[in-house]
Amino acid sequence: MDSVDFFDRLSDEWDDIFSRGDIDVLERGLELVNWNSFTRVLEVGCATGVETSYILKRLKSNAKLFAIDISAKMVRRAIERIQDARFTVNIKNFFDVEGIFDLILMINVLPHLGELEEVFTKSSKLLDNRGEILILHNSSRQHINMVHSRKEEVKDHVLLPVEIVQEIAKDKGFSILHTKDDEEGYILYVQKFTQEIF
Ligand SMILES: C[S@@+](CC[C@H](N)C(=O)[O-])C[C@H]1O[C@@H](n2cnc3c(N)ncnc32)[C@H](O)[C@@H]1O
Repeated sequence: MDSVDFFDRLSDEWDDIFSRGDIDVLERGLELVNWNSFTRVLEVGCATGVETSYILKRLKSNAKLFAIDISAKMVRRAIERIQDARFTVNIKNFFDVEGIFDLILMINVLPHLGELEEVFTKSSKLLDNRGEILILHNSSRQHINMVHSRKEEVKDHVLLPVEIVQEIAKDKGFSILHTKDDEEGYILYVQKFTQEIF
């Protein structure tokens, strides 16, 4: 069974799983972003769109939110859930995305994306100069890794300590704006400060 099948099967229960996370951590993480600066926002792994409303309530009226997810069943639910002219969603792998964005949001998705060097290299290609990435988990790293360890399909999808991930981001040309890695949740907020480093 691959990741697509796994997340397709999770689509019926994803809203319940999400609601067990800390909404205050999500809200406070999203408050780090200066939403007035961004018009082209990419949401990676939007799933059923359950956290997308928290993004849309902050997004400027003339901004666009491009959401993607590899699971068609998750995407179908997001389409049913969200009626907002600023929002579009597609069945797509992050590594197949094309375009230029000001902000990339990775909410509860980083450990599923694979090699971190490739994640930051791809992100750098997708971001305009001074573009930003907000990586956010609204549960603790320990909790996430414990849950993943119990599922064969994602047992290798480990969320690494933020100190390790931020060093990889720096090597790929990002400066660190904010970090959090504690019992409440996990945040790595970075800004592209150079041309692409490949
Ligand atoms: C744990 S869920 C989190 C969903 C959502 N962001 C949330 O917090 O409610 C991870 C989602 O990422 C999607 N995903 C995993 N790998 C992906 C990839 N390479 N590209 C796009 N989406 C991916 C999965 O299908 C799943 O819906």
